[in-house]
Amino acid sequence: MAAIYLLIAALIVSSHALATHGGGVPAAPPLPVPGDLAASGKLRTDPNATVPASMDFGNITAALPAAVLFPDSPGDVAELLRAAYSAPGRPFTVSFRGRGHSTMGQALAADGVVVNMQSMGTPPPSAVGARINVSADGAYVDAGGEQLWIDVLRAALARGVAPRSWTDYLHLTVGGTLSNAGVSGQTYRHGPQISNVLELDVITGHGEMVTCSKAVNSDLFDAVLGGLGQFGVITRARIAVEPAPARARWVRLVYTDFAVFSADQERLVAARPDGSHGPWSYVEGAVYVSRGLAVALKSAGGFFSDADVARVVALAAARNATAVYSIEATLNYYAGNASSAVDAAVAAALGELHFEPGFSFSRDVTYVEFLDRVYGEEVTLDKAGLWRVPHPWLNLFVPGSRIADFDRGVFKGILQTATDIAGPLIIYPVNKSKWDAAMSAVTPEGEEEVFYVVSLLFSAVANDVAALEAQNRRILRFCDLAGIGYKAYLAHYASRGDWVRHFGAKWDRFVERKDKYDPKKLLSPGQDIFN
Ligand SMILES: Cc1cc2nc3c(=O)[nH]c(=O)nc-3n(C[C@H](O)[C@H](O)[C@H](O)COP(=O)(O)OP(=O)(O)OC[C@H]3O[C@@H](n4cnc5c(N)ncnc54)[C@H](O)[C@@H]3O)c2cc1C
Ligand SMILES: *[C@@H]1O[C@H](CO)[C@@H](O)[C@H](O)[C@H]1NC(C)=O
Ligand SMILES: *[C@@H]1O[C@H](CO)[C@@H](O)[C@H](O)[C@H]1NC(C)=O
Ligand SMILES: *[C@@H]1O[C@H](CO)[C@@H](O)[C@H](O)[C@H]1NC(C)=O
Ligand SMILES: *[C@@H]1O[C@H](CO)[C@@H](O)[C@H](O)[C@H]1NC(C)=O
Ligand SMILES: *[C@@H]1O[C@H](CO)[C@@H](O)[C@H](O)[C@H]1NC(C)=O
Ligand SMILES: *[C@@H]1O[C@H](CO)[C@@H](O)[C@H](O)[C@H]1NC(C)=O
Repeated sequence: MAAIYLLIAALIVSSHALATHGGGVPAAPPLPVPGDLAASGKLRTDPNATVPASMDFGNITAALPAAVLFPDSPGDVAELLRAAYSAPGRPFTVSFRGRGHSTMGQALAADGVVVNMQSMGTPPPSAVGARINVSADGAYVDAGGEQLWIDVLRAALARGVAPRSWTDYLHLTVGGTLSNAGVSGQTYRHGPQISNVLELDVITGHGEMVTCSKAVNSDLFDAVLGGLGQFGVITRARIAVEPAPARARWVRLVYTDFAVFSADQERLVAARPDGSHGPWSYVEGAVYVSRGLAVALKSAGGFFSDADVARVVALAAARNATAVYSIEATLNYYAGNASSAVDAAVAAALGELHFEPGFSFSRDVTYVEFLDRVYGEEVTLDKAGLWRVPHPWLNLFVPGSRIADFDRGVFKGILQTATDIAGPLIIYPVNKSKWDAAMSAVTPEGEEEVFYVVSLLFSAVANDVAALEAQNRRILRFCDLAGIGYKAYLAHYASRGDWVRHFGAKWDRFVERKDKYDPKKLLSPGQDIFN
């Protein structure tokens, strides 16, 4: 490690101009970083580097870092972390920016150093230093923590395999989603993404590179998965794969009665008496509040034609429904499957369900088209100027026994008076037994096996972020008053008490692990847990 430190003045003036909660902040002292990182040009303090690293997808909060590291390799990150750990005087904080697709500043580091993970790049597969490798036996893929899931998918497909558990959107980094959990419609069956990791390379807060798994250094492995970037940086993840499906039959089924909808969702995620699973590969669902029904259906990924939209609107009126529900599911299939066999399997599976007769909609797409479905929406929204807007998202895990109460209070209650709802309202059940309680990710307390992922992905397209944030607070207050024991996902809390409540029985262990792997509390300060 470089023994000589170069003193780099923090950009105090612009920091004040940008920080949303700025004003009266005392001048930050110079930042001690290793001389060779600064001299190499990998550590930059110019606004072209720091200003983009001061913002995130949420577009609600901003914080200017003193510098941004553009590493060539994990070795550069280790050098920075060793320097931070052993810095004389005031240490500096370090955050890891995957794609910065957090919504509340979780990847920011005010006056600290942001590591631009993606600058580790994508050397071609199998090259020395390649950042994505599929194992020779096709059992797993090793991916750099900075890699996007879409790139992991493409590399795996080239070898006929694919990871099993996903997020809805693939232009996120491996390290970013594994620091949270990574949930989607496959979670009920395979668990969240963190349940599908075989091994990790982690550089801890001491700057030490450690390989860990359930068998070796399992405490660090469990800490880091769902660990909100608190214990180290994931530089490699070994991810379980399966033979890649070729295509997916993708259906949406319409309901006007919540009880019927949720019973069918739970039927879809249930294992059969012999322990095997049904034919479905992915199960999610959406809620449409009736007042905005037509607009919301039209933006549902091009799934409903104008005629379909008109029929659903007429159905909702006929049923006097204040909310309409839709199950979204896929049945994956392989090159060798005859399409008649797939048709028969879908028809038989639909025959067990109780959607509104005549209201099933189906598409047939390649596996990549299905998995990468949200990217097309991103392109459309971006063109319309509706992607780079504030995102006051609310993601909750709600116990299955209380989901009907949540529907009554939120979808049929609070959201009925919302002025405009832009962005999807997603709801689907998952099984707690597919989560590993030793890992840092938090699920609802208690013995209940099924909980619902509820994602209210609001976009503040009408300059109404404050109103939407107030609405989120009303939703949480409703849950608290009703005694709905939810856990927030992708949460941001500003107070220690809220974090203690969030982690509940896991808090003490979380703190012990922090003391062990990042005793100076330097990592991922934007989570606001220890800073
Ligand atoms: C359009 C969209 C759709 C989404 N859909 C889903 C979904 O379906 N399911 C789901 O579970 N989530 C979803 N998310 C949330 C997403 O998983 C998280 O916001 C995730 O953190 C984003 O990844 P990122 O690479 O941008 O992470 P960043 O925002 O860059 O970082 C997040 C946190 O992780 C830390 N971190 C980043 N990389 C590493 C690393 N290599 N090692 C250790 N710590 C690290 C950072 O310091 C920070 O604290 C979605 C987000 C968006 C914007
Ligand atoms: C910042 O970017 C602008 C526009 O690309 C460029 O003109 C300028 O030279 C850059 N400044 C630095 C310090 O890199
Ligand atoms: C929100 O995004 C706009 C446009 O990119 C940007 O000018 C603004 O600074 C961002 N605000 C925050 C708080 O990130
Ligand atoms: C991929 O394999 C190459 C060659 O063995 C190796 O140098 C590289 O570190 C590997 N990458 C990952 C992410 O494991
Ligand atoms: C999920 O939990 C429910 C309720 O206990 C159970 O019936 C079902 O079989 C479980 N599903 C899976 C895939 O484990
Ligand atoms: C329709 O619903 C509204 C509000 O929920 C209610 O006031 C009204 O009586 C209902 N009408 C019918 C015909 O059920
Ligand atoms: C597709 O083929 C596989 C392998 O033969 C088989 O297990 C599966 O049941 C088939 N799927 C359908 C929908 O027919």
